[in-house]
Amino acid sequence: MTNPYSYQDRRVVVTGAATGVGAALIELLAELDVAHVTVLDVKAPSGPHDTFLQTDLSDARAVRDVIRAIDGPVHALFNNAGVADTQPPRTVLSVNYLALRTLSEGLLDSIPDAGAIVNTASTAGGQWPAHLEQINELLDIDGWDAALEWTDTHLLGLGVAPYFFSKELVQVYTMRSSRPTIRRGVRTNSVCPSPIDTPLLADFRVSMTDKLIDWNITETNGRLVTAREVATVLAFLGSPAAAYVNGVNLNVDAGFNAAMTTGQVDFSGLA
Ligand SMILES: NC(=O)c1ccc[n+]([C@@H]2O[C@H](COP(=O)([O-])OP(=O)(O)OC[C@H]3O[C@@H](n4cnc5c(N)ncnc54)[C@H](O)[C@@H]3O)[C@@H](O)[C@H]2O)c1
Repeated sequence: MTNPYSYQDRRVVVTGAATGVGAALIELLAELDVAHVTVLDVKAPSGPHDTFLQTDLSDARAVRDVIRAIDGPVHALFNNAGVADTQPPRTVLSVNYLALRTLSEGLLDSIPDAGAIVNTASTAGGQWPAHLEQINELLDIDGWDAALEWTDTHLLGLGVAPYFFSKELVQVYTMRSSRPTIRRGVRTNSVCPSPIDTPLLADFRVSMTDKLIDWNITETNGRLVTAREVATVLAFLGSPAAAYVNGVNLNVDAGFNAAMTTGQVDFSGLA
């Protein structure tokens, strides 16, 4: 009987696998007998992989070039790389949203029937309903530079930090794009983790303050999620085990969002 969680005979592309969640994912995929792993990152990964294509995902031309360099088929594309607001807003929007979108659309023809696109979003994107009109306006813009110009003029007025907005875009883009991709037989989903024990957390402590991060951890079951605990959900969504799961932003947050939605989160720690 075929193991639906196995990556045997499957070729994958993972962005951002030098450290953190992506590094945990390539370790896990090797345990799941993956056939071929291509990593796109600025830094070389030390974990198991077959091809490393050094790519700065904040650079539109580099992203377009690397799409041509990737050998198909790509059974699963993991858009995982991300940066915090310790980087300039244009870099955050480019790496977290524009590169993810450009890779998804540029590689779609290389993804065979029953393949998958899996995005690493965040609970930080959970407030998307408050900005849906503006998010849809931006998603309607096709070009990389035109999208950045839109954010240059609109982001400040929205009153939302670039990182949070980028993850709102990823959540809505995941839902919106899942319709056309499933028509092609390709599922598109995301994971939305709460704070993770990775190097990026130090950047969030700078950009979001220790107070906000510590409050979030306390209200999220009292501990950080591990990179491996996020990687297992990414691997599930990219595998045939999730064959009928599409257009889902899957929270990996020990119920933080459920508690928010049902009014059980204590905000007094933020006062
Ligand atoms: N750490 C958290 O608390 C947290 C919480 C929710 C979601 N996330 C998301 O998880 C994903 C993985 O982040 P992580 O926590 O493992 O962080 P990380 O910093 O450990 O990993 C990010 C990876 O992306 C790569 N990267 C960064 N900039 C790049 C660029 N311009 N081009 C190519 N590669 C680049 C890094 O080299 C690294 O390998 C990100 O999308 C992040 O937004 C993180």
